Amino acid sequence: MKILVIGSGGREHTMCWKLSQSARLEKLYAIPGNAGMSKIAECVSLDYESGFSHVAEFVRKEGIDFTIVGPEVPLVSGIVDYFEKRGLAIFGPSKRAACLEGSKVFAKRFLKKYGIPTPDFGVFSDSDKAIEYIEKKEKPVVVKADGLAAGKGSLVTSSKEEAVDAVKLIMEKRAFGDSGKRVVIEDRLWGKEISFFVITDGESVKPLVSSQDHKAIYDGDAGPNTGGMGAYSPAPIHPSLYKKIMGRIVFPTLRGMKKEERIYRGVLYIGLMIEEGEPEVLEFNVRFGDPETQVTFPRLKSDLLEVLLAVREGTLNQINLEWYPQAAVCVVLASGGYPDKYETGKEIKGLDNLARVKGIFPFYAGVRKEGERLLTDGGRVLGMTTTGKDLRRAIRSAYQAVEKIHFEGVYYRRDIGFKGLRP
Ligand code: GLY
Repeated sequence: MKILVIGSGGREHTMCWKLSQSARLEKLYAIPGNAGMSKIAECVSLDYESGFSHVAEFVRKEGIDFTIVGPEVPLVSGIVDYFEKRGLAIFGPSKRAACLEGSKVFAKRFLKKYGIPTPDFGVFSDSDKAIEYIEKKEKPVVVKADGLAAGKGSLVTSSKEEAVDAVKLIMEKRAFGDSGKRVVIEDRLWGKEISFFVITDGESVKPLVSSQDHKAIYDGDAGPNTGGMGAYSPAPIHPSLYKKIMGRIVFPTLRGMKKEERIYRGVLYIGLMIEEGEPEVLEFNVRFGDPETQVTFPRLKSDLLEVLLAVREGTLNQINLEWYPQAAVCVVLASGGYPDKYETGKEIKGLDNLARVKGIFPFYAGVRKEGERLLTDGGRVLGMTTTGKDLRRAIRSAYQAVEKIHFEGVYYRRDIGFKGLRP
């Protein structure tokens, strides 16, 4: 089969790496791809954010059989509906289902309507009213832009002053553009944050192995949120917690979406906070996580292409998802200054030494090739991923590999996976 992957990050490089192992793969394409993906896929530079006609035309011309969408922006804008209307096979939720990520207001109201646990909240389209609400709150809040904001639109605050500043930043200064026309103000929870993924064809539901992201920029979860500075898998989830997540959150969400005539097909990423053993939904994402994918797919024994095709064909019940037992860790190497301003174009050295080492997967994110040189090309540059017999060993080899990579200003957290060592 001819397969197209849309996206250019570490998640999409990992997808391509895993898809390239499929017995059914004939040719892999990526739009736009990156320097890592170009080793296994034909990368084509086409705009997929402002409209889908060029991509659909390309798919037809090349005779591509199946398209897999990595990032949320095209999903929320309706690429799946566009393709399906034209008879082109694609993996992901429809626009109406992708609202779970596209609008925080929709997601919170949906959760409330179906009695799915989530922190209390208010919705505001007027900043004065939002500030009034904050003044009356006794506990700290999280201020969230309604629309998409590249993972940076949720501002976790510790005081009323910080919360008011967050409202002004989102609603008045429009730091995230029109995504900040409305905000959700949510009670802040303290606990353990986990990423929970299920894949569903609308009928059958299968959880992926557990994983945990590290969103804050600094060690110990300090500093502003990023797209994700690292992840590990498996993340410890007690069977009783797993049962609560499936019974109180996953099934009611999928049932509710069906009832709303927004039937969900694809992968659903549920961001959860576990406080005193009780899970509450912080957010939904309608795609695979980045960098959670980097630690999930190296553990997947099953053929990824077969799994994704089964979602599209409604035959997921016939798939037995199989996993390798070892642990995986991904340490993100970022450009100095990220998630604020950073420079790009720095030469990356040391990757050649790692290219063929078993159990080490240097997944590329913001990397471009210039002649024979690899240059940094984004905030998150590489996701150094390793597998190991257990988490401790995977962490050790991830950091040994990270130390072999050099570029000016390189920054990475030094505590990725440590949470998993002391559950
Ligand atoms: N790991 C965060 C995200 O994928 O949004």
